[in-house]
Amino acid sequence: MTRLYGAITGWGAYVPPHIVTNHDLEATLDTSDEWIVQRTGIRQRHIAGADETTSTMAIKASLAALAQANLPATELDLILVATSSPDYLTPPASSLVQAALTPHHIPAMTIVTGCTGFVYALVTAYQFIQAGVYRNILVVGVELLSRFLDWRDRSTCVLFGDAAGAVVVQATEQPCGLQGYDLGSDGANCQHIIMPAGGSARPFGPDVLDERSHYIRMNGREVFKFATRIFAPASERALRMAGKCIDDIDWVIPHQANLRIIQAAAKDMGVPLERFIVNIDRYANTSAASIPLALAENLANGRIKPTDTLLLLSFGAGLTWAAAVVQMQPQLHSF
Ligand code: UT7
Repeated sequence: MTRLYGAITGWGAYVPPHIVTNHDLEATLDTSDEWIVQRTGIRQRHIAGADETTSTMAIKASLAALAQANLPATELDLILVATSSPDYLTPPASSLVQAALTPHHIPAMTIVTGCTGFVYALVTAYQFIQAGVYRNILVVGVELLSRFLDWRDRSTCVLFGDAAGAVVVQATEQPCGLQGYDLGSDGANCQHIIMPAGGSARPFGPDVLDERSHYIRMNGREVFKFATRIFAPASERALRMAGKCIDDIDWVIPHQANLRIIQAAAKDMGVPLERFIVNIDRYANTSAASIPLALAENLANGRIKPTDTLLLLSFGAGLTWAAAVVQMQPQLHSF
């Protein structure tokens, strides 16, 4: 039987137009531009407007990716949406995206693994492609975390931004696509990033509202330590599976959570920081959207070529991690 590969033929992103700078936050919070820039590298973030939701942002990024791939949405076989900030706990955000894009009742699935969601979804998409089950898959990473942040908690609210990114993965017989990956979950340490209430463990009620425990809480220091510990070994395992070494990688696209984490990863992995894509200064941490946003932006400006070999590296709630070696399109073929 012919071996099938998954080419990434389309990509797109959406960020809401409204920008909130660190200086804007100084007006309402006991914080400073200097602290935020020094500790995180963040200078501003985009925040969704009142008329926007997670699925409306996802749909905009998806339409851009489909247009780039020149693929009508009616040709899609599967939609995967990675998000931890859906429009509703139920129905799934993926079904809202499916309804907006296509009248066909194709499968649509929401993947909830925090910031690693896009890479988890991409790896999932490739399994369906390689098994010969589906040919055209839309993979979205989207987050509207500004609605889940406690805007009185300076240790979390300054860190995040809203965005969406999407790619189209299409079956091809030409070698390309996902070459190796490493996924993992350290659930015993899940309490370090948590929305304590609003789920079945602690249903919503007036006490929850008083405690503000329906918002994200995070032990930043512990998450920071986890991230710096996991990046190098996860990369090594993904590279080993791909039969590659770090010198074969043109660009590392790390999850944009903290510039200091990216710098530590570069040092640990022995890779110059110049080979890491960094845009955290403009978008802050957009969780599951951060990697597809960085990918789409740098393909659009020509810094990344579709034939480059990429290492996607992510960590987040769970605590989960995900590393993937990807060459989006075959070397000797242009779409
Ligand atoms: O995508 C995955 C999601 N999460 C992450 O990636 C987070 C990973 N962790 C981090 O990025 C960092 O740990 C933070 C940026 C969250 C915090 O940086 P840190 O260097 O670990 O600072 P810290 O938490 O140790 O806090 C140092 C001080 C504290 O004051 P005291 O106790 O030393 O007096 C905080 O209260 O900084 C204070 N602080 C702030 N000060 C001004 C915390 N947040 C702020 C703030 N503005 N926004």
